[in-house]
Amino acid sequence: MPARHVAVIGTGYVGLTTGACLAALGHSVVCADADPHKVERLREARVDILEPGLPETVRDALEAGLLEFTGDTAAAVAEADVVFLCLPTPMGAGGAADLAAVEAVAGQIREVLRPGCVVVNKSTVPVGTCERVGALLGRADVTVVSNPEFLREGRAVHDFLHPDRIVIGAADRDAARQVADLYSALDAPLVLTDPASAELTKYAANFFLAMKLSFANNLATLCERLGADIADVTEGIGRDPRIGSAFLRPGPGWGGSCLPKDTHALLTVCDQSGVDFPLLRATIETNVTHQRQLVERVAAVCGRGEGGSLDGVRLALYGLTFKAGTSDLRDSPALAVARLLRERGAELTAYDPALREERPDLSDLVELADDPVRAAEGAAACVVLTEWPELRDLDWAAIAARMTGHEVYDFRNLLDADPLARAGLTLQGIGRAS
Ligand code: UGA
Repeated sequence: MPARHVAVIGTGYVGLTTGACLAALGHSVVCADADPHKVERLREARVDILEPGLPETVRDALEAGLLEFTGDTAAAVAEADVVFLCLPTPMGAGGAADLAAVEAVAGQIREVLRPGCVVVNKSTVPVGTCERVGALLGRADVTVVSNPEFLREGRAVHDFLHPDRIVIGAADRDAARQVADLYSALDAPLVLTDPASAELTKYAANFFLAMKLSFANNLATLCERLGADIADVTEGIGRDPRIGSAFLRPGPGWGGSCLPKDTHALLTVCDQSGVDFPLLRATIETNVTHQRQLVERVAAVCGRGEGGSLDGVRLALYGLTFKAGTSDLRDSPALAVARLLRERGAELTAYDPALREERPDLSDLVELADDPVRAAEGAAACVVLTEWPELRDLDWAAIAARMTGHEVYDFRNLLDADPLARAGLTLQGIGRAS
């Protein structure tokens, strides 16, 4: 496969990973970003997101002369055979995806694209966006293709280089082939389809994952009531390949920058299309009710009076990021639970291994502690909200000595009971007998 000239517009998780990994596959890549400070840092291989292997991949590609960064979008695309749009599509009005960034860039590049070039939408965009970008470009000699990305934060480089599948949606077979050829060094099944199917595939995948998690979280509650163990039940069902064991760990709800945004956007699409999809609505609602139930569990033991008020009750939270291995707080379920606890009047101190610096944006919600033992000072209970492996090895005796109560709510089923019991603490997991 001959190496191609590729431009990547947007250097967030998806864009930077795409650019650096395509360069690692031997293509010549220019990444453009509107933030000049970011461009300057990336030119020195300084990557501001916590993503294993990404700084090294960027550095190696820069050294090999296969990766460049620029603030000039038009210049980046001028020589490109393939242009990837990796732009943010945040939740906009009424839950729909906001396409302002995609549309603005389409306007900036329309005049400079090389004849015959292929423009690829890699961001999660609603069905019809390929067509819309095509209309905005207004270039009969340029094809717009959908090639959604399925990578997970914290595993972005690995997921890019070892995909389960590569989905390419194009009205034009030749354009689809040009995109497929970029990945020919990777060993992954290709799903070649039309743009609408490719665009919907991404939403359907994230909805299905969220649905599995809402199912697991509700099942955990049922396990608690019936005296069953969620780990055994999910293993028992997950061994059936039609079900699969992945994505069935119960927790404090699902979050992050993708699942909430994409499920809401899909719900808006359903409403706009007049399609009733009760499973989708229930998946989203379950996430909220599940978090409320977890807070009720804490309030029932640590709260005061009839309504279980947590007024003035101090709680230590362990983990705030939306999952372990990332510093990302966007739509974190831990923050959602913290907000509910705060609404009940609780005073919150939090320790998170990825949050070492001051966070003025969190100051109304939690006080950040740089040390897990200090976080427990005066706490009636500890609540584990993110599955950081290092939380397993905390000094529970020292933590117990600082606490006023002895409950530890482990909403990730992460901790071992023995060290806590030795410290005189009571472990309460999720979906199992304590
Ligand atoms: C998710 C999808 O997993 C990716 O396939 C997709 O490409 C990506 O969104 C995207 O659209 O860009 P990510 O947001 O990185 O990836 O996060 P996940 O690892 O999927 O976790 C999502 C949430 O589910 C987290 O809050 C996590 O803690 C929770 N989770 C996950 C559980 O509670 N239990 C599990 O068993 C798995």
